[in-house]
Amino acid sequence: MKVGVIGCGGMGTTHYLSLKALSAQKGLDVVALADCRKEFLDKAASYFPDAKTYEYGMDLIEKEELDVVHICLPSYLHVDHAIAAMEKGMNVLVEKPVCLTREDGERILEAEKRTGVKVMVGQVVRFFEEYSYLRQAYLDKRFGKLKSIVMQRISGDVKWGFEDWFHDEQKSGSVVLDLHVHDVDFLRYMLGEPDGFDVRATAFDSGMINQVITTYRFGDVTATAEGVWDISPALKFQANFRACFEDATIVFNGAENPSLKVYKKDGTVEVPELAQEYNVTSDAAGINVSNLGPYYTEIKYFIECVQEGKDIDMAQVGEGVKSVELALKEWEAAKDYVKNL
Ligand SMILES: NC(=O)c1ccc[n+]([C@@H]2O[C@H](COP(=O)([O-])OP(=O)(O)OC[C@H]3O[C@@H](n4cnc5c(N)ncnc54)[C@H](O)[C@@H]3O)[C@@H](O)[C@H]2O)c1
Repeated sequence: MKVGVIGCGGMGTTHYLSLKALSAQKGLDVVALADCRKEFLDKAASYFPDAKTYEYGMDLIEKEELDVVHICLPSYLHVDHAIAAMEKGMNVLVEKPVCLTREDGERILEAEKRTGVKVMVGQVVRFFEEYSYLRQAYLDKRFGKLKSIVMQRISGDVKWGFEDWFHDEQKSGSVVLDLHVHDVDFLRYMLGEPDGFDVRATAFDSGMINQVITTYRFGDVTATAEGVWDISPALKFQANFRACFEDATIVFNGAENPSLKVYKKDGTVEVPELAQEYNVTSDAAGINVSNLGPYYTEIKYFIECVQEGKDIDMAQVGEGVKSVELALKEWEAAKDYVKNL
């Protein structure tokens, strides 16, 4: 199976390291790489010395015949590259957020239908063992009914992007579409569409939203999710949740080990055993991702769907678009909130 990676920056590195780890097991070869920054392209090529290298993603798509291409470009470039690759018959794994506008969401859905290739969105939280455990506990009610959930994604200012694209809201969609969309997507995955929500927000001096706190109503479950891009660099990136069920509280903190604990109503504490197949930490990507495991699981799942002709039933492109649509509504509400402060 021939695979290409477009965009070898922070997330692209995470993808190609996972592909490297999967290559023997899945019989895949990374045969083409693209990045317009030479140092990032050269670093990627050092892992795959036989791969062809390209400065631009569109050139790679035009010249190569691939089974799968991973699109790890800045978010504003996702849809055009994904559609070009789909039109050449390539199966596409595109990073989140799949798109930044409703129109682009419609375009990629139309292309998916027309081309018939497989497309998946890198909504990786769906592949985290801790979040899967939470969703399973919600579904099988082992701790009774879920009453409330609080989720957070806390990051300092994002400085690593190509040409500082994270700070241009037309290119990143602000913290709402870039970071907070992870929790938006997971809440939708577990609880469906919210009945309503209420947003509070703050902004950088430039006016771009840098913190969003949304409270949602999902039937009788109350959920709050916060995404922030503006904490002190002295604080490490953190993702966490606290889910209160009738008989227990499940607490996840990605910065701790063990990361997941269940605090039972009788006062006992359980540490669930999580079955992560690939447990490798690496700082090679230079971003706030150190545990490659969930990315490996996500990519393995996509490769298996392509190899075995299975339907994608995790993080389908339609799901990615719906999560963007909800995040767009929150972003609009955040901008209104800040304007009226
Ligand atoms: N799933 C996750 O946990 C997660 C985490 C971080 C980022 N992301 C997403 O991954 C995507 C990339 O983010 P990043 O942090 O890697 O950004 P980045 O700026 O580090 O990497 C993007 C790379 O694309 C290259 N590039 C830009 N235009 C190009 C073009 N036309 N052709 C070829 N290369 C080009 C840049 O040189 C850069 O190396 C974004 O959509 C972001 O939201 C996802």
